[in-house]
Amino acid sequence: MPPQSEKKFWAEKTFRRLAHLYGYREIVTPTFEHTELFIKSSGSTSDIVQKEMYTFSDRAGRSLTLKPEGTPGVVRAVLENQLRLPCRLFYITPCFRYSRPQKGRYREFYQLGVEALGEAHPLVDTETIQLGAEFFARLGISDCLVLINSIGCRLCRPNYREKLLNFLRPHRQELCPDCASRLEHNPLRTFDCKNPHCQEILAAAPLPHQHLCPECQKHFDAVLTGLKSTPVRWELNEHLVRGLDYYNRTTFEFVSPVLGEQISLGGGGRYDYLIEEFGGPPTPAIGLAIGLERTLLALPELKTAPLRQLVFVAWTGTEELAAARQLLDRLRAENIPALITYETPKLKRQFHLADLAQARLCVVVGAEELKRGVYGLKDLSSGAQTEVSQADIVNRLREILNS
Ligand code: HAM
Repeated sequence: MPPQSEKKFWAEKTFRRLAHLYGYREIVTPTFEHTELFIKSSGSTSDIVQKEMYTFSDRAGRSLTLKPEGTPGVVRAVLENQLRLPCRLFYITPCFRYSRPQKGRYREFYQLGVEALGEAHPLVDTETIQLGAEFFARLGISDCLVLINSIGCRLCRPNYREKLLNFLRPHRQELCPDCASRLEHNPLRTFDCKNPHCQEILAAAPLPHQHLCPECQKHFDAVLTGLKSTPVRWELNEHLVRGLDYYNRTTFEFVSPVLGEQISLGGGGRYDYLIEEFGGPPTPAIGLAIGLERTLLALPELKTAPLRQLVFVAWTGTEELAAARQLLDRLRAENIPALITYETPKLKRQFHLADLAQARLCVVVGAEELKRGVYGLKDLSSGAQTEVSQADIVNRLREILNS
């Protein structure tokens, strides 16, 4: 509903502009895909696949799923259409997850995402994080922090996984049922668990970033060095593994305090193997997705005021209505949003309607003013009234609306 919807479009516009500035082109993927796509990419042990997908059969008995996230559809589309790499794509898309609805967690929500496919350099990781940070800064969210970690690659992860398993196995009985069942398939995910007892056990666990191979270490160091020359606020978080199975090397999350709680406004990371797993050529990739609704929750008060840009054209009699309609057309031709009522010439009622429509300014077309070549101009927030010559009205309105 307005004004919430207006804030949503404003955030989308800001994101679209920024993505263009970073060289991304917009992609639109289908709302639902074959279920298999998500199982294969997000991972069969992920919460999304295990608990949160909206899956249904169509009339032909095919299993389909409403997209729970933007990345898999992009990867599928790129492969299917044989896009030339490297390519940078962004999206603004509704996503669906069957989780318990609460503040900042919805069953239908929007993701603003970017995916850079075919770029391996660590500074691309830095740039992706920078883009996210700049988005929040442009919206006026200044308390946003990036948590960052590296979870290694195909070479170093198996060794580390064994170490972690050896550490966790003796604690199997003490782990929560989720962690116990995930243990053998994906022990790294235990770091993601919110259960305080699991966290206590994990406090002494070997950490992913301490077991990186030299190449991964070099990559991670370069990402962090890159970040140091930017204004991004970041901190190493040794437990950050992220909830999707496709990640390797750099993982990161944007967090911000919302309603007294630290929540994740966005997250992403590298997924250098996913395209290959889908039958494509070995292709390094990295992406980020931002939760739109959570971003709006984190907006500072100042930025949550509706953006009043509308001009209301009021008139005082039948003859003035003709002149008012001409002015209305002139304003719209000049790209100034304008509204009129045909209901009544009574000014009091028209001012009331202007207020209801959330107009910022009201131009009054009166008989006496018309003779003098002027319009009345009322600022609806301050109540201040002035006169402006008919010739100057467009410039004057622009000046005020842009201020
Ligand atoms: P994700 O962390 O699952 O990552 O989701 C990204 C963001 O979507 C979250 O940080 C959060 O702001 C928002 N979000 C997730 N679930 C909900 C929900 N139920 N209600 C409201 N907001 C939600 C991904 O989806 C990856 N595809 C990100 C990525 C792109 N990695 C590489 N490329």
